[in-house]
Amino acid sequence: MKHTILALLQQHSGTFLSGADISRRLGVSRASVWKDITALRQEGFTIEAATNRGYRLTDGPTFLHTTEVLRLLTTKHMGRAFTLDDKVDSTNRRALSAAEAGAPDGAVFATLEQTEGRGRMGRPWYSPTHADASLMMSVLLRPRTPVVNAAQITLVAGLAVYQGIEDLLTDPPDSMSSPIPSYSPIPSSSPEPATPKTGIKWPNDIIINGKKTAGILTELVAEIEHIKAIAVGIGINAQIMRFPPELNDSATSLSLETGRTYSLNGLAASVLNRFEPLYDRFLENGFLSDILPIYQKNCVTLGQDIKAVYNNKEIYGRAVTINARGELIIRLATGSDTALNSSEVSVRGLMGYT
Ligand code: BTN
Repeated sequence: MKHTILALLQQHSGTFLSGADISRRLGVSRASVWKDITALRQEGFTIEAATNRGYRLTDGPTFLHTTEVLRLLTTKHMGRAFTLDDKVDSTNRRALSAAEAGAPDGAVFATLEQTEGRGRMGRPWYSPTHADASLMMSVLLRPRTPVVNAAQITLVAGLAVYQGIEDLLTDPPDSMSSPIPSYSPIPSSSPEPATPKTGIKWPNDIIINGKKTAGILTELVAEIEHIKAIAVGIGINAQIMRFPPELNDSATSLSLETGRTYSLNGLAASVLNRFEPLYDRFLENGFLSDILPIYQKNCVTLGQDIKAVYNNKEIYGRAVTINARGELIIRLATGSDTALNSSEVSVRGLMGYT
């Protein structure tokens, strides 16, 4: 019943609905309406109550809430099966085991808390326990495409997360962001920071003002030729205000860079709303036609002098382009070019993080 009341308030968002009206429409007592309104408030919804006017929903929670994500989605299938856990070891592991049990293409597995967040190259992923500090979700995909194309999906996901974050930073839709309240570590009187500079660091780190704010780990289950399931694990630092010392120089969060708070529901929806059309285009037209040029335009690694670590060996060169397979081409001091595969190398810029 609580969810029906929420849906009703959402349909009438901004206008008051009287308690009598709600109880008549849903065939429940006014006392039961009041009980559910109280429960929704405890879940983070802001619901105004006014004498003789009734109830009005004015804001949603900043932490993940399935109803809120579904309300903000504009996708046909991606995220429509949305599972939110209170606590998991890793959403990627969760998505891949759900895949074994038959979960569909586009299903999303998110969590409020992640105890063993995994990063690329076997590193751990910093997953703070505060409920709206970071977005942790995995999108399960079952593409009918050969295994060699998995690296391209990693780049498609990177572009989607980049675009989803950009959308949010440039034009936050309804209930997606608000200025940081005065109890936060950023004083409310401080001036709004300058427009943040965002970009993709190949293959799929999202960089804001030179520091990493989001990462993606793509893991797959495959037979020799055929992909059975891919978990695209997305971690976005949203409201993290302090990082462990070892990450301080390289990591940042949306809030640290913009001085605003972001609803994880808006953030999740924004990313998925971008991901679905890109993924559909990828399946239909391939990577090369229109996705690679957009990716390259927003890739901050290109033109940089970089160091790549491959098989414990360091390679230095200038990143010159990305090829049709999604590999990064670097020009070595000898003048010859070499292609780096995203699943095998870690890349760092020599001038700053990117
Ligand atoms: C990276 O190293 O940049 C990739 C980080 C990916 C982190 C996310 S959080 C949700 C999903 N579950 C995991 O265990 N990892 C990914």
